[in-house]
Amino acid sequence: MSGLDTLGDWKRTHLMTQLSAQEIGKTVTLMGWVHSRRDHGGVIFIDLRDYSGLAQIVLGPQHQPVAFERASGVRSEFVLAIQGVVGARSAETVNPKLQTGGLEVYVKELKILNSCSPLPFQIEDEEITEKNRLKYRTLDLRRPAMQKTLMLRSKAAQIVRNFLSEEHFFEVETPVLTKSTPEGARDYLVPSRVNPGRFYALPQSPQLFKQMLMISGYDRYFQIVKCFRDEDLRGNRQPEFTQIDLEMSFVDQEDVIEVTSRMIRQLFGETIGVKVPFPIPRITFKEALERFGSDAPDMRFGLELKDLTGLCKTCGFKVFQDAANQPRGLVKAINVPGGAAFSRKELDELTDFVKIYKAKGMAWVKLTPEGWQSPIAKFFTPEEIAEINRITEAKEGDLLLFGADSKNIVNDALGNLRKEISKRKGLVKEGDFHFVWVTDFPLFERNEDGSFSSTHHPFTMPVLSDLEAHEQGDLSLIRSVAYDLVLNGVELGGGSIRIHRADVQERVFRLLKLTEEQARAKFGFLLDSLEFGAPPHGGLAFGFDRIMMFLVGTDSIRDVIAFPKTQTASCLLTDAPSEVDLAQLKELSLAVRLSNS
Ligand code: AMO
Ligand code: AMP
Repeated sequence: MSGLDTLGDWKRTHLMTQLSAQEIGKTVTLMGWVHSRRDHGGVIFIDLRDYSGLAQIVLGPQHQPVAFERASGVRSEFVLAIQGVVGARSAETVNPKLQTGGLEVYVKELKILNSCSPLPFQIEDEEITEKNRLKYRTLDLRRPAMQKTLMLRSKAAQIVRNFLSEEHFFEVETPVLTKSTPEGARDYLVPSRVNPGRFYALPQSPQLFKQMLMISGYDRYFQIVKCFRDEDLRGNRQPEFTQIDLEMSFVDQEDVIEVTSRMIRQLFGETIGVKVPFPIPRITFKEALERFGSDAPDMRFGLELKDLTGLCKTCGFKVFQDAANQPRGLVKAINVPGGAAFSRKELDELTDFVKIYKAKGMAWVKLTPEGWQSPIAKFFTPEEIAEINRITEAKEGDLLLFGADSKNIVNDALGNLRKEISKRKGLVKEGDFHFVWVTDFPLFERNEDGSFSSTHHPFTMPVLSDLEAHEQGDLSLIRSVAYDLVLNGVELGGGSIRIHRADVQERVFRLLKLTEEQARAKFGFLLDSLEFGAPPHGGLAFGFDRIMMFLVGTDSIRDVIAFPKTQTASCLLTDAPSEVDLAQLKELSLAVRLSNS
């Protein structure tokens, strides 16, 4: 085709959807992409697209032969500028699905600003493979659904900024080239050229910097900030993701929960019209684990876990008896109302499902008119059966599913099992949003080797009376002043009140078996700052991408990030991570040695 045109002195007068009946008879200048082109016996119709939407332009040889001639060479996704007169479509050609469906623009002049190579997929295709979407992200982002998502993301960020600014939070940028931050994942490291053999770590969160800003007197800080974590990329995780991060001085847990609840309420209300309750309900960590088997409980449906450990200590089924008598053993059951109708195949599938969570099996009981029907019925006395039925509220037609093992395995397996059953049985209503604050997290979690590590991070404030009572005893009984906001079983965000006193910090380090030297080497700069008059402070961070997943209604975190990474942390668009040349490595005083060479 002939050469391309330049913009020259043309200025766009309207976005597509800014055209309205008021423009009828006026000359307008539009610019955009060819969404589709139809040739109707000498008249060419083009749907021209920009981010706002579509408008139909019409070219007929009788009006403008030159423009018509040029338009015959135009293909999908060419970039055009047109000048023409807005007209009303005839009644039978009105398209009620389009905002501009009652109008069309009769082209007087047409410029082809750019052509387009053959496309790997059509913009309006619904079924594009994820691989192609990520590889040709430029085109994928051109799709109206993705444009809507990213515009909503921009609006959401704006609502958050406005809200927090009005609440007197200052936005401060914290460094990206920094030192390891203790959020529990692996660090991404960046070698320093000018300091051979030394590395920066990309921040897993701005945790330490925001605490230092409080010590510096900034009172309230926020940042919409990238965080980097080298971890297993299950489900709603990305190696780089965005937090809405905030911190406040002279506050307690109630203040942080209050202001962030209002922020979430405003965000969900103004974007998708969901009314978040105020106050948002709460549940303690302990109760969440007992009833739902998870510290991020999905409370949109029942299927709660019932504890049978006491009763099973003396029961005749050895698997249950052994588990119930272990120091940290548990026997629990879920009652699935109407579940007696489950087929053998379904029960086998569910047994395989709990094995993902390390359960050794899944005993089941069907409540038939004749009583318990189950391979394990014979091990229980009539009194025990009556007691289990009472605790689980089981009645005829129901199904009981059991887990017996260590506490973590039982809660994890049954917690996930109840979600799986709700999915299979469609127990969740579309559009149901169940928010809950989970509070009173334990300060420490027990590792497999019996040692303890921080549940959140080592700067989390313990409940001081718990610290006094259990410092010398069972550390798992010390609670912290930490809280998570959970929506439909997904952790949206979490935070805590921080330790602001050096003496308390030292005690916590001691319990974590961190020597003074180790603590100094890792966070000496924070410890020094704590000595300079640290005010009481606390805060929280939300996962912005996870919030966006709810606002958009998608299960894929990759749908809400402009340029996401795959499950193997690579970018199919840029091919990152990639090899670097030897000269660059040498400059960084590095050599690559692959473990298999
Ligand atoms: P935390 O580690 O709980 O807390 O992170 C806060 C929130 O960030 C989101 N999130 C992620 N989102 C996507 N991909 C990931 N890999 C990922 N990891 C975490 C979650 C999570 O709730 N500094 C503390 C906050 C504080 O104490 O103020 C912190 O980072 O939604
Ligand atoms: P068994 O006696 O090993 O044949 O197991 C009888 C039933 O108990 C089977 O349905 C197993 O799936 C189940 N079962 C075995 N181990 C456990 C366990 N740790 N927790 C719950 N159920 C189990």
